[in-house]
Amino acid sequence: MFSDTQIAFIGSGVMGEAMIKGLMDQGLLIAQHIIASDPRPERLAELSERYGIQVTGDNVAAVRDRDIVVLSVKPQVLGEVLKELGSGAIRPDALVLSIVAGATIDRIARGLNHQAIVRVMPNTPAQIGMGMSVWTATPATGEAQRKQAQAMLAALGEEFYVDHEDYLDMATALSGTGPAYVFLVMEALIDAGVHMGFPRWIAERLVLQTMRGSVEFARTSRRHPAELRNMVTSPGGTSAEALYQLEKGGLRTVISKAVWAAYQKSRYLGGLGRDR
Ligand SMILES: NC(=O)c1ccc[n+]([C@@H]2O[C@H](COP(=O)([O-])OP(=O)(O)OC[C@H]3O[C@@H](n4cnc5c(N)ncnc54)[C@H](OP(=O)(O)O)[C@@H]3O)[C@@H](O)[C@H]2O)c1
Repeated sequence: MFSDTQIAFIGSGVMGEAMIKGLMDQGLLIAQHIIASDPRPERLAELSERYGIQVTGDNVAAVRDRDIVVLSVKPQVLGEVLKELGSGAIRPDALVLSIVAGATIDRIARGLNHQAIVRVMPNTPAQIGMGMSVWTATPATGEAQRKQAQAMLAALGEEFYVDHEDYLDMATALSGTGPAYVFLVMEALIDAGVHMGFPRWIAERLVLQTMRGSVEFARTSRRHPAELRNMVTSPGGTSAEALYQLEKGGLRTVISKAVWAAYQKSRYLGGLGRDR
């Protein structure tokens, strides 16, 4: 599927590296076909040594004659990158794949004067191949390019295609931001364990395995979460007592409000990101 495909990464930080690693670990691309661009020479030396890929500090040189260009810079520097690459540096038949949070397809298309664009919302577990990437593509993106995008994202964990860009803002709030919610709950449970008297390392071990086991159980049993919860809630028991307090404290409403706020923020930031 990738045979001689040449790929460039513009911005080679945490996510750029996760994608490079995923592609190479899965045997999808060889080092000689990958070039990473980044401003810091130390970072480039690190990537070159670790993966044997080509590196450069010049974004324009990086994208020249490439089949796929991955935009993996922070949102704050996207404007500058679009200006730099916007005057025909990218081959017209190349695929541009952006993971930049909040950057709309329209903004990238206008900024680069380019048609074939895939916009992705990944999340941090992509770094260990357990990510959730939600993506969409412009009509100008060819079938072979869509297959390549899908395979690249599958190398980071699970991928899910949506046909409407608004789902990307929803995904930003649910799966993109999701690890932050989970880590907060994880931390709160560990602290609760310490509050009762467990040493922190023991509380941590209990909580992590409980979360991991619960996710796997839900995934493999395919039962509704309420059903699984009822299974551990005996009448007048400890779970019933704890769940009563969680409901009384408005846990569901707080979570729903938090996700809604993240969704609104994502839409707002997307609307702000105009270069012209
Ligand atoms: N991390 C996640 O889980 C996650 C999840 C969803 C979406 N995203 C999106 O993925 C993108 C990358 O995130 P990240 O976590 O990988 O950030 P990161 O680690 O900061 O990586 C960005 C890289 O781009 C480099 N850079 C800065 N200016 C540049 C320029 N003009 N040209 C080329 N490279 C430049 C940075 O170098 P310096 O460090 O020297 O500035 C850095 O190495 C962001 O847009 C983010 O919204 C990330």
